[in-house]
Amino acid sequence: MFHVKLKMKLYKQVKEILELVYSGSNLNLVMDQYKGIEDEPRLKYLVYGVIRYNFALEYLIRKLSKHPNDKVQTILFIGIFELWFSNKPNYAVVNDLVEFTKESFENPKIASFVNAILRSFQRDKESLLSELNKDYSTKFNLPNWFIDKLKISDKPNYLSIISGLSYHPAFGIRVNQRKIKLVDYVSKLVNANIEYELINNKLVLSEACAIEKLPGFFDGEVSVQDIGAQYVVDILTRNNVSPKFVLDACSAPGGKACQILENYDCDLLAVDIAHERLAKVKQNLDRLNLSAQLIVGDATNQKWNKDHQMFDLVIADVPCSATGTIKRNPDIKLTRKLSDIDNFVMQQREIINNLWSNVSNDGYLMYITCSVLHDENQDNVTWIKANLANSILIEELQILPSLHNDGLFYALIKKHNG
Ligand SMILES: C[S@@+](CC[C@H](N)C(=O)[O-])C[C@H]1O[C@@H](n2cnc3c(N)ncnc32)[C@H](O)[C@@H]1O
Repeated sequence: MFHVKLKMKLYKQVKEILELVYSGSNLNLVMDQYKGIEDEPRLKYLVYGVIRYNFALEYLIRKLSKHPNDKVQTILFIGIFELWFSNKPNYAVVNDLVEFTKESFENPKIASFVNAILRSFQRDKESLLSELNKDYSTKFNLPNWFIDKLKISDKPNYLSIISGLSYHPAFGIRVNQRKIKLVDYVSKLVNANIEYELINNKLVLSEACAIEKLPGFFDGEVSVQDIGAQYVVDILTRNNVSPKFVLDACSAPGGKACQILENYDCDLLAVDIAHERLAKVKQNLDRLNLSAQLIVGDATNQKWNKDHQMFDLVIADVPCSATGTIKRNPDIKLTRKLSDIDNFVMQQREIINNLWSNVSNDGYLMYITCSVLHDENQDNVTWIKANLANSILIEELQILPSLHNDGLFYALIKKHNG
């Protein structure tokens, strides 16, 4: 009896979360409220799973029900997802969800409807699933507007991008070179029986790992950071840039700021518009035994810069569509709209235009996004070259999303002494 109650409670929580996200709430913020609850892993599995496979699930439900019932859409999403992927026996999935529907709705016809749809899926599963391959939106679970946009703007890479976004997120880690050498950290992983791959000298674990189990995490030896987000130092190194005064203007939670401080003896000012997010930068700095100056400020103006400081490196890791991180933040595919992209581009140009005045002569701006869209990446670099005085593009790097990493874009721009 107790067990049944727990199962019903879990379904109730999953349904509540999904309904919030489907009506526009941010998945990470909603999930924060469920941290540490009983059965959190299963809750996450169901919530993230349904959102990841949203476009296929929508298609399957459309095929299975002649008269769709919006009220039970979420329950059907959960049921079909479980029948498709989980190792729970099919009869138990159907029984539990029918029971849950009875608890949620007084009308018994609704439970019969759920029962019928789930059983039809179970019966025709193989042929229904094979239909998903006919269309990229259902095959890769991405919105059509996004696929169409990529196809136009990045024909050579578009298939690799959409397939790269369909994996589960990778678990990249960054070793703090100030505390431990990469080779010695690798030995610690081996001793802890944690499987890893080394890609471009960056570590990706074969499975997600709780931070408590990550050797040396609390001693500041290592941080969790997608390896696609770890290219700042590679780019600076191969262009012989060794910064002394760094502004990280959209800094939180501080992944790139900390990586810079781990690798260079420099003064770093971390600015972010969100007070509560800047607190995370402080937490990360403290854990890694690093220090920086922190200011809450808006990178579209100079109000934060009372002393009119100039920097030989300005990092602008700007707010963006985050389409390169869809694996990690699957709600992006539900909430992001084509019309958002122009707004991001406007905001990005406002930020870089403002920050250009903080770059000293012969200094550098590193423009970064976690987008895979040309509008926010290559097109903004073209805009920079045309609009920012004395700018020269030194290096542009598009990291495509893959099994091992998210998609990120970097451009290193120099201000020449004109
Ligand atoms: C992509 S995240 C930065 C990630 C960070 N650089 C890292 O490596 O961990 C973008 C950040 O920009 C901040 N932001 C958004 N608009 C801003 C603005 N106008 N001025 C300063 N920060 C802003 C957001 O609060 C967010 O923390």
